[in-house]
Amino acid sequence: MPVQRIFFGWPVPAMPPRRIAVLLGSIALFAVITLVFTLPNSIPSGPSLGRFTDHKISLPKLPKTFSSPSILSPFRVAAHPPPVLKNTTSGDSKWYSNWNWLSPFSSSVTLDENRSLLPPLNERPPIYTYYDHTQKKAADLKAADNALLLTWRRAWWAQGFQPIILSPAEALNNPLYAELQTLELDSTLKVELSRWLAWENMGTGILCNYLVFPMGAQEDHLLSFLRRGKYPKLTRFENLGHGIFVGSKAEITAAVKTALDNPELKTAKDFISTVPKETFQVDPHHESVAYYDPVVVKNKYPKIDEAISKGANGLEILNKLIISHLHGTWRNRFSKGIAVLKPEPDHMSAAIEPAFTLAEFLAQCPESPMPSSCPPNRPKCSPCMASTPLKISTPPTYRNTSELYTIGTVPHPFTMAVLSSFRDNIDVPWIRRESSRDPWITALTKEVSGTGVSSAPRIIKFKEAVASEHGTFHTLWLTAEKEVPQDLDWRFGFTIPRNATDTGKSETPVPGPERRPQPKPDPKNGPVANPDDVKKERELLKRAKDFGQARTPAEEKLRGAIEAWNLADTEAWRFARAFLARSRVERLKWEEEEKHYVGGAGAERGKSSGWGRWFDD
Ligand SMILES: *[C@@H]1O[C@H](CO)[C@@H](O)[C@H](O)[C@H]1NC(C)=O
Ligand SMILES: *[C@@H]1O[C@H](CO)[C@@H](O)[C@H](O)[C@H]1NC(C)=O
Ligand SMILES: *[C@@H]1O[C@H](CO)[C@@H](O)[C@H](O)[C@H]1NC(C)=O
Ligand SMILES: *[C@@H]1O[C@H](CO)[C@@H](O)[C@H](O)[C@H]1NC(C)=O
Repeated sequence: MPVQRIFFGWPVPAMPPRRIAVLLGSIALFAVITLVFTLPNSIPSGPSLGRFTDHKISLPKLPKTFSSPSILSPFRVAAHPPPVLKNTTSGDSKWYSNWNWLSPFSSSVTLDENRSLLPPLNERPPIYTYYDHTQKKAADLKAADNALLLTWRRAWWAQGFQPIILSPAEALNNPLYAELQTLELDSTLKVELSRWLAWENMGTGILCNYLVFPMGAQEDHLLSFLRRGKYPKLTRFENLGHGIFVGSKAEITAAVKTALDNPELKTAKDFISTVPKETFQVDPHHESVAYYDPVVVKNKYPKIDEAISKGANGLEILNKLIISHLHGTWRNRFSKGIAVLKPEPDHMSAAIEPAFTLAEFLAQCPESPMPSSCPPNRPKCSPCMASTPLKISTPPTYRNTSELYTIGTVPHPFTMAVLSSFRDNIDVPWIRRESSRDPWITALTKEVSGTGVSSAPRIIKFKEAVASEHGTFHTLWLTAEKEVPQDLDWRFGFTIPRNATDTGKSETPVPGPERRPQPKPDPKNGPVANPDDVKKERELLKRAKDFGQARTPAEEKLRGAIEAWNLADTEAWRFARAFLARSRVERLKWEEEEKHYVGGAGAERGKSSGWGRWFDD
């Protein structure tokens, strides 16, 4: 009688011993093949936890050769890391821009654990404006012009353009300028022609008045078209007059030559009428561009027109109006409000405080000379009203919603560990026995990636949310240990209102974080920390910041261990840090180049102390 075999309490069907051997043999072979072919790919190169073991629990150690996938390929030899280009570092962050930026772990490409792989910088097409800084003008008028030019530059920069202010110097550089000098012309037309000569001298691009502003979503058709930088036909826009033109060099040259050769130039009053009608294609669709030309201001904002006729102060008021319209357009776009992400929310209140303050600033109504007015291109806007503030929520996960602006705070794994464990004496055994791996990114991507997904796809989702074109327009990612960058106005395209006007009195001092009204408890926003806990959180956060600055050798070991245990969280933190640093370096570099032209017009001057004051703890 055959013996009934039992396996873990289950009866096993009888089988001849030879077949069992074959079956077990195949399983073993399959296991070995799976191990050899999948394991090396799933282990990113970088620090391995093995180095930090305290020999109480030993992790399965892999042969040394398995630490790099390249080893398995017979054709790969030791590779040089990609070259380090100019201006690709800032403080501790380093980066390398490449098309394959969506690989989960940067170090597999950059061969340097501290160097992040970022997407290539988007090409910024130039947009030109013309400003004659040589004109004799009162100092206060020049200051007002400067403020308007700054607003203009910031608004277009935030939309992905490279705003450039041209001056008579560029016109003078044009060989056709001599011809213009010999002509007796109407003075407005002469300025207009100089403007075209300056543009022709630069070539393909957009020419606009500095009272023309992008007033719409980045995804808007016209703005996307302009951002592509390819303009098949010389175009002007219906009803915008001389406000904005786009075209390529050859067509600009042809138009200027035609105008200069026109025998009726002497009696002409404006540029468009001096060239044949066919020179321009006329585009009737320009809903996302606002032109505050004097006629529009007179009709729509009579109060401001009156002030302008009295002097420089009027221009400053106009500037305030434009800034409030830019802000209003942004607010209208994000009708679902601002999400300040708070994954693992129990002890994260202090860490997200700067992001929360920023959200509160953004949700405010800016000071405006005409609070209920709308931009000229969007007569049906909903003006900012203190009674219906923008909603600020603190959800624990990232949600990809077009009408929601997301501000994320990425903590270093050490910061995450001290805050979530709520004590500052963490050590290697604690990390390995008690802490879970990559808690931050796992919580953050719970909704977009689901549960039961490994870290690599989560990291890719995160990188997309940070750095894809869609991501840069809908999200901002800060790091928990660094100050909020000073130049966020350039990211948003308007001056962020930094103090409360929603009480009706702009003089009201800003309440400190403690006295500020806390958001109403909403289960979706996570638990509300009590004041004692928040105090302790602040101390822990300070400890984490100090840890980031200087470490003893023992702490260095701890850092290595915690980064190795949380590879995905570390990657996310480095990525966000490098991305933020790069956008700052990009702007500073451009600023550095531009300040030599037009007598530095349109630069930020005598800037107030900025954020520092509100974000110091
Ligand atoms: C990366 O940065 C850390 C901290 O700044 C440093 O200790 C480490 O040596 C760096 N690693 C490399 C490969 O440069
Ligand atoms: C978010 O949604 C947009 C389209 O609505 C999509 O193009 C983008 O890839 C999404 N981003 C992420 C991180 O899923
Ligand atoms: C509030 O902001 C406005 C405009 O930026 C400024 O003029 C005013 O002095 C600020 N008030 C305080 C109290 O900081
Ligand atoms: C860019 O690099 C140059 C030369 O290395 C340096 O002088 C300049 O300060 C850098 N600019 C920025 C914004 O880091």
